[in-house]
Amino acid sequence: MPPRKTTAMANPFDPTFDHLIDRHGTGSLKWDRYRGRDVIPMWVADMDFPAPPCVLDALHAHVDHGVLGYTLPTAEVTDAVVSGLESAHDWRIDPDWIVWLPGVVSALNVACRAVGKPGDGVVVEPPIYPPFMSAPTLSGRKTVSVPLLETPGGFRHDWDGLADALGPDAPLLALCSPHNPTGRAFSHDELSRIAALCRERDAIVCSDEIHCGLVLDPDQPHIPFPVLSDDAAQRCIVLMAPSKTYNIPGLSCSFAVIPNPELRRSFRSAAQGIVPDVNALGFTACAAAYAKGESWHQALISYLRVNHDLVAAAVADMPFLKATPVEATYLAWIDCRQLPVPDPAVFFEENGVGLSDGQAFAGPGFLRLNFGCPRPRLTEALRRMTDAVQELLNGSQTAQ
Ligand SMILES: Cc1ncc(COP(=O)(O)O)c(C=O)c1O
Repeated sequence: MPPRKTTAMANPFDPTFDHLIDRHGTGSLKWDRYRGRDVIPMWVADMDFPAPPCVLDALHAHVDHGVLGYTLPTAEVTDAVVSGLESAHDWRIDPDWIVWLPGVVSALNVACRAVGKPGDGVVVEPPIYPPFMSAPTLSGRKTVSVPLLETPGGFRHDWDGLADALGPDAPLLALCSPHNPTGRAFSHDELSRIAALCRERDAIVCSDEIHCGLVLDPDQPHIPFPVLSDDAAQRCIVLMAPSKTYNIPGLSCSFAVIPNPELRRSFRSAAQGIVPDVNALGFTACAAAYAKGESWHQALISYLRVNHDLVAAAVADMPFLKATPVEATYLAWIDCRQLPVPDPAVFFEENGVGLSDGQAFAGPGFLRLNFGCPRPRLTEALRRMTDAVQELLNGSQTAQ
């Protein structure tokens, strides 16, 4: 995807998203890693923006009520999810298909236990969000890696590899759609081909769609896996959450949508007694986000598109580095294999920017940059990276 025309100059200050909030001393996972150091954290996938005002208002009202007892999913939150999925993705679901969970990572682990038998393989496509690699082995299964292929047009599925891997000994594909960390939003053709392959191999798909609200490329709208066909719907566990889109990951609210009743039963049974309920405030936030957060969401997407363009332009100007185009997510996957340093993550950390090391995603030599932050902070981080790389280049030229 070519960089979109940036609107940063036309809109120099966005009061919703440009505001810098100090997260030091708040127990933030993202910020505490660099406590006491001048390092801008751009690693773990949460954004430095406050949650939408409608979500904060709903949380205030809930807390003002004062009682925080065990809570069931209300009709309000179920309706919000059902209507939200229909309006965003044209996907009509039956409320009975929803299984609430406190996290998508837990759900991924539950899915590994719910499908097949101990010792079976679970197929994953690295580079990939690290829990995809660990969930199978934590669940008594084997991780079967079929890496995405690097092509001049970006990362693509390895069709032959998937066809070889899926089957009776590996009856589950753990799909990440949109894909973290490569930023791919898979096309209808790609997803249909996966669905056809899974039908042929009689495999189940666990489709982690947590980033579905963060599609930046208007030409590549998100397609929930079950929308592809009735057969796809019957062999699929979809994992979703309001956490990434509305920046409420600390509230631990997510859900699986499982149209097939037998698969749903296996999933519930694998979770029973181990996976706790969603907390009361998580439900409240989820209901408000899906029912009332759309204008904030659209403003966020516009803001992230400009941030993406700034990252793409800055990285294109940096010697040694290459960024793959981001179709979805606020995560840029940067190829640093030509950077003449032993450890790119350490190098940038020493130069004041904390990025995710690709090694953890089974993508050594790459770094993941989270651009879900106010633009002044992003601009400063990109300046630090540019200066660091430029200095490296100057040093190598002087040495010659
Ligand atoms: C693809 C993917 N799945 C799951 C998660 C985490 O989900 P949760 O916090 O609900 O466990 C992330 C977080 O970055 C993610 O990128």
